[in-house]
Amino acid sequence: MVGGDSWIIANWKSHKTVPEALEWVRRVGEKIDVRKNVKVVVCPQFEAIPEVKKEIMVGNLPLLVGAQDISPFPMGAYTGEESASSLKLFITLCIIGHSERRRYFGESDQLVADKVRMAREEGIIPLVCIQGEETPVPEGCELVAYEPVFAIGTGNPDTPENAQQVAQKLKEKYGEKLQVLYGGSVTKENVVSFITQPDISGVLIGGASLDPDEFCEIVRKVHEAYS
Ligand code: PGA
Repeated sequence: MVGGDSWIIANWKSHKTVPEALEWVRRVGEKIDVRKNVKVVVCPQFEAIPEVKKEIMVGNLPLLVGAQDISPFPMGAYTGEESASSLKLFITLCIIGHSERRRYFGESDQLVADKVRMAREEGIIPLVCIQGEETPVPEGCELVAYEPVFAIGTGNPDTPENAQQVAQKLKEKYGEKLQVLYGGSVTKENVVSFITQPDISGVLIGGASLDPDEFCEIVRKVHEAYS
């Protein structure tokens, strides 16, 4: 990363009950250092979001909360959807268009763009997952995660050099303001190789974010690499 803020984002997917989520937050929140230019975000399942937020506020812990999805509609008659206007009380950002949502829930680029618009209207930062250079980045989106499908949950990450190239091309196409994260089999062993690339501003972590000790180690290594 060159200049600007950096992000370490835990995507728990459909893992962790509320008590498990709170245990993780306590352990990680008390162990990690605060660095002004590194934002650490945890994205639990919906039902844990208010509880996690409360735990962070009460303990004054150096963590932000994110959601893994958001409704493309405002509050209203949309059964099963979580509206941006209710989520905004708890979350700073929202993952949108993860490849698992595109694959298992049929999310199209248009739906992703609608969700981005709704998040922005409510002051939530949209973090759009793109699967390659060709995935469109919706208008107004300034934070994306490059997550090649072959690398997700496989233990087979992309190379840092290729991730850097993709990030560079995205910035050429959409402007320098766009921040690009890398995601896909990030671990404590490889995180530094990604975050030290000039155009990569952080990481989105699935599997390796579930274990609090591993996650703390990732945060520690990122801090060390930036200091
Ligand atoms: P992984 O998942 O770290 O388990 O590969 C990343 C993601 O899906 O965001």
